[in-house]
Amino acid sequence: MKNITLSKRLSAAAELCRDGSFIADVGTDHAYLPIYLAKCGKIRGGVASDINKGPIDRARAHIAENGLSDVIETRLCDGLSELSVYAPDDIFILGMGGELIARIIENAPFVKNKNIRLILQPMTHSEILRKSLLDGGFSITVEKLVKEEKIYRIIVAEYSGERSDYTDVELTFGRQTIEERSPLFFELLDHTERVMNERICGKRISGADTSEEEKMLGEIEKIRRFEDTEKLK
Ligand SMILES: C[S@@+](CC[C@H](N)C(=O)[O-])C[C@H]1O[C@@H](n2cnc3c(N)ncnc32)[C@H](O)[C@@H]1O
Repeated sequence: MKNITLSKRLSAAAELCRDGSFIADVGTDHAYLPIYLAKCGKIRGGVASDINKGPIDRARAHIAENGLSDVIETRLCDGLSELSVYAPDDIFILGMGGELIARIIENAPFVKNKNIRLILQPMTHSEILRKSLLDGGFSITVEKLVKEEKIYRIIVAEYSGERSDYTDVELTFGRQTIEERSPLFFELLDHTERVMNERICGKRISGADTSEEEKMLGEIEKIRRFEDTEKLK
């Protein structure tokens, strides 16, 4: 048996798993997350899936090395396409682009179930993922930021059948993250500001439209101004 130490990013996602869940880890690669959760006794079982043969072979080997082949199954498939038969309680989709995660969820109507918790960690375009979740009738119940060299976003969503409208800035940063105003959030704002300014410089050279970036900078400025006013109170 090998000891598994999760990265900060995966640990933060693991903490959001419910006790006694049967989990699906989509795009599992090494299967560290389900192995860790099974070894802690937090889950009753799980399925680790991946679209690529290399990762799923690696996952299967790690699961076997840890003596967990009867607790965690493996499945070679695209997204959630073959996972409804497992009736997972908690579904992890971590370390992929936000657009891909959104597509995987949109293609799996069985996840529109109030008992299922989606634990998601988009590497890019979290705003596209949030919009797709809200349009699909999911409520975003938790937003977490975690720093490990860069800042990662973790989103928990559950189907409610209700539609909430987010502003552009809420889609970009997450409503709870904006409300919590943690130091990491302000670090993320600094980073976003730098990226927007770089994009504006690049676009100006080619004469491209910079209105989207300017709008985002304006929204960031509004959040900072609100913060300054609150501090003066
Ligand atoms: C960067 S790794 C992330 C591994 C792990 N989830 C993590 O966060 O550390 C992305 C994994 O997703 C898999 N993947 C990409 N597209 C997928 C899809 N449509 N369905 C299932 N797995 C996919 C890749 O093969 C790869 O193993």
